[in-house]
Amino acid sequence: MTEEIKNSGWKLRKGTIIEAKQLTKTERWFDIKLDDGELGHEPGQFIQVEMLGVGEVPISVSSSSTKKGSFELCVRAAGRVTNYMQTLDKGAIVTIRGPFGKPFPTKEMEGKDLVFIAGGLGIVPLRSMINYAMDNRDKYGKIDIALGCRTPKDILFKEEIERWENMEGINFSYTVDKCDDPAWKGNTGLITTLIPGLEIDPAKTYAVVVGPPIMYKFVIAELLKKKIPTTQIILSLERHMKCGMGKCGHCQIDSPKNYYCCKDGPTFTYEQVKDAKKL
Ligand SMILES: Cc1cc2nc3c(=O)[nH]c(=O)nc-3n(C[C@H](O)[C@H](O)[C@H](O)COP(=O)(O)OP(=O)(O)OC[C@H]3O[C@@H](n4cnc5c(N)ncnc54)[C@H](O)[C@@H]3O)c2cc1C
Ligand code: FES
Repeated sequence: MTEEIKNSGWKLRKGTIIEAKQLTKTERWFDIKLDDGELGHEPGQFIQVEMLGVGEVPISVSSSSTKKGSFELCVRAAGRVTNYMQTLDKGAIVTIRGPFGKPFPTKEMEGKDLVFIAGGLGIVPLRSMINYAMDNRDKYGKIDIALGCRTPKDILFKEEIERWENMEGINFSYTVDKCDDPAWKGNTGLITTLIPGLEIDPAKTYAVVVGPPIMYKFVIAELLKKKIPTTQIILSLERHMKCGMGKCGHCQIDSPKNYYCCKDGPTFTYEQVKDAKKL
């Protein structure tokens, strides 16, 4: 391998799945240990997972950089590669490239109150930031966590969420879009319904929002009503990716600023992407 490849994002890194768990019917969680040491990521970054003979996909690193020795992914079955990944179990070898992308601005957010909002699979990347903030609790102010998904059956990371819910100084709320299970004790309704009730001091608050594109428009409208500055609303966007590192142009964001989602994002301030045709 040439020095150029060794030091670039093209370098393939081999790892082993040391734990795997089916979280829901369509989402599978993996704990992976790399042969060459730590992944070296920051919260909000992603990797390219290479399934030899099948294909390569971008997947967010779900564990915090404060966790050492291995890192976690959670993969939803969506197509060719991600369906194949549902068959992987403990002991399987995986090959990755990365980490890639701009992380959440953990340093800028220090000293500020944090509002974390995730819809559906958005909890997967946001979890890296939530656990980072939990492990650096003294660096951040008040923390609000508002989560939502379709039904109680779709809730990911249930045990961990219970832990967050019971932590001191965390204001936690969960909602599901619909539910006919009388055992469900949380809210029912869209995630936007959780925002008006949050007590926010806008100048000293960062809101970090991750979810499906449809969610952004409505959640951002609620956050703007709370007067949070557009530079303090942080999003994580998804686009179809190939190289993952600004070389192929597949992931451009349709905005006057011509951002590449893989290298200028996936995390952006709302100020950066508010003119994009689609979030
Ligand atoms: C930065 C980033 C982080 C991601 N993190 C995660 C994660 O943590 N967990 C996870 O399960 N998924 C994640 N995804 C989405 C994942 O990459 C896609 O589901 C995957 O690429 C689909 O590939 P496939 O071969 O399985 O499906 P394909 O057969 O290629 O496609 C199946 C369907 O998925 C759609 N699709 C393909 N690529 C994307 C994409 N990038 N975004 C949205 N839809 C897509 C296709 O249009 C098609 O409808 C992330 C995507 C990005 C860009
Ligand atoms: S995926 Fe190639 S430029 Fe972003």
